[in-house]
Amino acid sequence: MEQVKVIAPAKINLSLDITGVDEKGYHLLDMVMQTISVFEKVTLTKQDDITMSSNAKFIPTDSKNTAVKAAMKFFEYTGIKGGVHIHIKKTVPIKAGMAGGSADAAGVIVGLNHMYEAGLTTQQMCEIGLMCGSDIPFMIHGGTKRIQGTGNIIMPAPQMPQCHIVVCMPTKGVSTPQAYANYDEMGVKTLVENEKLLKAMEEENLEDICRYMANDLEKAAGSEETEPIKKLLLDLGATGSMMTGSGAAVFGIFSDEETAEKAVKAIRNKEIELPCAVRSVFLAKPVSFGASVMKK
Ligand code: C5P
Repeated sequence: MEQVKVIAPAKINLSLDITGVDEKGYHLLDMVMQTISVFEKVTLTKQDDITMSSNAKFIPTDSKNTAVKAAMKFFEYTGIKGGVHIHIKKTVPIKAGMAGGSADAAGVIVGLNHMYEAGLTTQQMCEIGLMCGSDIPFMIHGGTKRIQGTGNIIMPAPQMPQCHIVVCMPTKGVSTPQAYANYDEMGVKTLVENEKLLKAMEEENLEDICRYMANDLEKAAGSEETEPIKKLLLDLGATGSMMTGSGAAVFGIFSDEETAEKAVKAIRNKEIELPCAVRSVFLAKPVSFGASVMKK
């Protein structure tokens, strides 16, 4: 196969609980994540070496990019002598907590497995992913999952009920290492009740899901725009609102499609006075898949 196209969804955190720190200083987590219908598109073309390009001019295209690292690790792991040109059409904002970079890397691993007919299992692809970033195994799996450890333990979770998700990215992003460092310094813990959240999901009770959404990094991320955007989304009819991952994107969960569409329109067209500048706004739904090869 000379060319493979992959679609790789972004994620939101319905919860993020920091439960400890490992010997390397990495944070042990217990979180519920959901892939959503905001997509990265990764096109892989077979060639002898590894190169990368993107429509986004602000991301590295050398081995600093997680997608390039993932390709290098794929060839190392499998022993296959090959290469690839990776083209990434970026939609997911950077420094958003939506795992856009991890989605790209997941797309590269899944796509290369297909292109080179390597026959890797999901577990093996996740092992490669984990060498490049903690969110990559989940971005390979997708759907609704409970994740523990440093991203290596992936467990099934009840599917997120049908809903509409408005994601707002403020102008200023948050660096993930900085958010974790701030958390360590501040030592302020949020009450995260994953069992209650999962029970609410099993019962398909959107109000309770929103009640039990919680994120230990929300305050530590230090984004001044989090609280104003949360309030804005709630004022526009969201049942619940929270920052995703290490930020800075904030999402609102809406039960009603029309209300969610109106909220997006109001923010995008500045029909209301915005509490801060919003760089981008997305209307999305939960999806049940991770990075996937597109059928022609
Ligand atoms: O793995 P990822 O590239 O997302 O991590 C970026 C940085 O965030 C890590 O180098 C580390 O400083 C911090 N981090 C952490 N604990 C995690 C995930 C990330 O401390 N579980």
